[in-house]
Amino acid sequence: MSITRKKYKRITTKSLVEMKENGEKISMLTAYDFTMAKILDRAGIDVILVGDSASNVMSGHETTLPITLNEMIYHASSVIRAIEHCLVVVDLPFGTYQGNSKNALDSAIRIMKESGGHAVKLEGGSEISESISRILTAGIPVMGHLGLTPQSIYKFGTYTVRAKEEQEAIKLMEDAQLLEQLGCFALVLEKVPARIAERVAKSIKIPVIGIGAGGGVDGQVLVVHDMLGMTHEFNPRFLRRYADLHSIMTNAFKNYIHDVKAQNFPNKSEQY
Ligand code: KIV
Repeated sequence: MSITRKKYKRITTKSLVEMKENGEKISMLTAYDFTMAKILDRAGIDVILVGDSASNVMSGHETTLPITLNEMIYHASSVIRAIEHCLVVVDLPFGTYQGNSKNALDSAIRIMKESGGHAVKLEGGSEISESISRILTAGIPVMGHLGLTPQSIYKFGTYTVRAKEEQEAIKLMEDAQLLEQLGCFALVLEKVPARIAERVAKSIKIPVIGIGAGGGVDGQVLVVHDMLGMTHEFNPRFLRRYADLHSIMTNAFKNYIHDVKAQNFPNKSEQY
């Protein structure tokens, strides 16, 4: 049993801040459905992120932009029905919070009311500070997301490492401090050099959860389909595969197809 499971019956936003204070690293993975969320929760994960990466891995879109608020609510509700222990954070999808804080608040309220999620995540820094503040005033916990922000892919043009140049690194540090001041309980830092990420994590009290941001931050997050080796064509340097489910599933499917064709399935004990 993990240290966290013994100490916290249920993980809250406060538990994550305490974990940072105590030097305990935070584990976070994505999930989008009931069965996966149940396995993750019982395995002892601290946080499930219902990420807008569902747009890629569940719906097959090239980017995260097309996924809708209704679709995010559907995925988040399925996850919420499965969990007993972990914190569930839900991404606000593209177009539901940028440039209009009233819209942002309405979107966050829909997520909380209709899915039962515990917190929302938004991508961006100073440019969305009004939206973050307005959501926070409704008592909805907010996780920030800086560095590579996939919802802005058409602005940046590539998925390469961010904050390599000094100007961008300064803006990143300022944005992280701003998110803390506004009242975010944590932030995700995606694809930035490890030394910059560590500096950011050390400069603020709220936990920094990294993806492609090195080991000097307060926790790690991966997309579950990637770490299970289901998306074998996606190979960024930061991705550690903990299983090769692509091969395992392909073999299982091939064996099933073979058994059906060969009339080996079902056998006598597998029928009524
Ligand atoms: O949508 C997502 O899965 C994310 C993670 C990559 C952090 O935002």
